[in-house]
Amino acid sequence: MTKILGIETSCDETAIAIYDEKKGIIAHQLYSQVAMHGEYGGVVPELASRDHVRKIIPLVEASLKEANCTQKDLSAIAYTQGPGLIGALLVGATIGQSLAYAWKLPSIGVHHLEGHLLAPMLEENKPEYPFLALLVSGGHTMLVDVKGLGDYDIIGESIDDAAGEAFDKTAKIMGLDYPGGPILAKLAEKGTDETLRFPRPMTDRPGLDFSFSGLKTFAANKIAASDGSPQSKADIAKAFQDAVVDTLAIKCKRAIKQTGRKSLVVAGGVSANLALREKLADLMKQFDGEVFYPRHEYCTDNGAMIAYAGYCHFVKESPVVPDSYAIKVHPRWPMSEVF
Ligand code: KG4
Ligand code: ZN
Repeated sequence: MTKILGIETSCDETAIAIYDEKKGIIAHQLYSQVAMHGEYGGVVPELASRDHVRKIIPLVEASLKEANCTQKDLSAIAYTQGPGLIGALLVGATIGQSLAYAWKLPSIGVHHLEGHLLAPMLEENKPEYPFLALLVSGGHTMLVDVKGLGDYDIIGESIDDAAGEAFDKTAKIMGLDYPGGPILAKLAEKGTDETLRFPRPMTDRPGLDFSFSGLKTFAANKIAASDGSPQSKADIAKAFQDAVVDTLAIKCKRAIKQTGRKSLVVAGGVSANLALREKLADLMKQFDGEVFYPRHEYCTDNGAMIAYAGYCHFVKESPVVPDSYAIKVHPRWPMSEVF
């Protein structure tokens, strides 16, 4: 029975999971460094690496225990090889390669975004290939035409800030705690001012690319001009969120029209956003199609998506135990170079 251990350490989550070809995810362990970085208002890369070192081995042990198996039951080790913070990636890659060497297993370097892209496949109700994917995380915003496993066409992406980054930066400008995205989204629920409207960047011209960096400046100006009351903050949060959500939906609609796909996969941290989910569900209804999401804990960074992506490569490429286990990561790794 094929079992893949997946390791994710690209940013501020140390995450380990085991995927079993028959049972699905049989272990899912995660330690979030959010509280530690919160003190500094953002991820401190050196602290992230050091903390991954502390947590990774206990989490591997906890995963084996949770899955009620030993290393002898594993078929391969998959680890996030990029993109991400170099030091953080190196911890996962070093442990992944070392365990593979010690346990005489093949190892599989996984592209973090492919992990996000495939995460909805872990659900019971999963999409069939081909589908359109909207990847919205802290580091990336992309529209990908997914024709099959490993057959990905990037048809749109952000030319500046990613959607999650725009949420986080705007939240910071508004004086909200870290991580800002979900906190801003929560605050937006209390917004009531329908007259306050932010621009929908790059929607007045053809194309599928995004630009979100102007929205934070727009928000900063609105905050400076406001009375600073909790209600006006909530109104600004709502107007900002509406703009991001609307912009993403407008581009998804164009992409659906362009590709004729009936299924839309939404993945990455921002896919947890409820306003976005509602909007995209409405959109796909218009096209007689369906939207697919990973469950909440597989939306943000996790080991399950890496174990599963590793499994897909294991089946497709049948990797063997190599002669040498070089430790190599790709902090910047354009998806187009991989697939
Ligand atoms: O995929 P992810 O965990 O990490 C990256 O690979 O970047 O995504 C994290 C991003 C952060 O920018 C976070 O603020 C955003 O996802 N995020 C949200 C929500 N939950 C997480 N943004 C908006 N609304 C949310 N509910
Ligand atoms: Zn991610």
